[in-house]
Amino acid sequence: MNNDPASKAAALAPPCVAATAPLPEGPFDPRAIRKDFPILNVTVRDGKSLAYLDNAATTQKPASIVCALCDYYQACNANVHRSLHYLAEQATERFEGAREKVRAFLHAPDVRGIVFTRGTTEGINLVAGAWARRNLKAGDEILLTEMEHHSNLVPWQLVARDTGAKLKFIPVLDDGTLDMAAFERRLSKKTRLLAFVHISNVLGTVNPARRLIEGARSVGARVLVDAAQSAPNRKLDVQALDCDWLAFSGHKMMGPTGIGVLYGKVEVLEAMDPFLGGGEMINRVTLEESTWADLPQKFEAGTPHVSGAIGLGAAVDYLHRLGLDTIQRYEEQLAAYTIRRLSGIPGVRIFGRAPERSGAVSFEVEGVHPHDLAQYVDRDGIAIRAGHMCAQPLMRRLGVPAVSRASVYVYNLEEEIDRLVESILKAKEFFRHGT
Ligand code: ALA
Repeated sequence: MNNDPASKAAALAPPCVAATAPLPEGPFDPRAIRKDFPILNVTVRDGKSLAYLDNAATTQKPASIVCALCDYYQACNANVHRSLHYLAEQATERFEGAREKVRAFLHAPDVRGIVFTRGTTEGINLVAGAWARRNLKAGDEILLTEMEHHSNLVPWQLVARDTGAKLKFIPVLDDGTLDMAAFERRLSKKTRLLAFVHISNVLGTVNPARRLIEGARSVGARVLVDAAQSAPNRKLDVQALDCDWLAFSGHKMMGPTGIGVLYGKVEVLEAMDPFLGGGEMINRVTLEESTWADLPQKFEAGTPHVSGAIGLGAAVDYLHRLGLDTIQRYEEQLAAYTIRRLSGIPGVRIFGRAPERSGAVSFEVEGVHPHDLAQYVDRDGIAIRAGHMCAQPLMRRLGVPAVSRASVYVYNLEEEIDRLVESILKAKEFFRHGT
């Protein structure tokens, strides 16, 4: 009999319903994977079946990821990189295993360039705090786009305020693409950093990352890519992109909340100061001063989100099971269907008509405030987002205070879009006549 407590714990853990079975042959059918997401079958609002169309805010989680979290807590919960006992060893192995999965996911050359963070926002703040604040000065320029999420704008406003560096912006054209001619004009030897959103959470626009990065390189600027909306739905290759940093969040790609990644080139991260100080990120500490741990621990002060990282690793496994190309193709196809159906409703205006776009479709319905619309369709069981989408400057550019947004992902169905269209038609009548 095995009396090892860890083995007992492992034996008590529920069997993980890991979704590892191969997908059925033939064209991708979202119905084949919907059973992996128990939440898609819940009923909401007086027994309405759920149509979850708020995936740009956060995606749902397959059972395999929920199980990975459960399994970690029931079978091997311990702190990592510290204790020498069995559970600590198991936890560390899974935590570092997840880091390796993320490295491969990004095609990063070195696992030391994968820093676990709380999410995209923290990754960007890390670069702002640990690189920009120490390296930028008055006269330097930070180039952003007019379509940034607040998470890739406010940290640079703070840096600009404290260093005297100046913010510049690439304008957005009426079709929701970037004005690339203006981009070329705004680049100069003063440009020290280009930080841009890979895919807009409002317009769905896929920005031309390679062209932007090449432009920045031609003037010697560093580059940060906000991949919050692109990591969930396409293959990313940080070596082909040649960016200095790239940040994304686990929860938008089927992983847990509170975990994200900052990728950085090793030589760039090596040259940076730490962001947060504390345990884990040090090498030698005296009362007066400290030296830093090697990468990536230098940027991971305190006990990390161990279960979150393991859950993110499980999410990467699940994305690979479906195939990133399959996810991208299906999401694009469903976004095109969404735009076609919404455009057929009189008085609907779609924001963002870029030829290359993802699943976030923002729109307005004449005569109905976005918040009223979101509440109305929610009564039919349909979850969409309404508001400024954490992109107030872009709202100003679009000339609206707020938009409604339906954002689709790989498990959504055309019939859910049909339900949204029907509900919007009813909402229009309701708000016109008050009945
Ligand atoms: N960034 C998330 C969204 O666009 C929260 O909804």
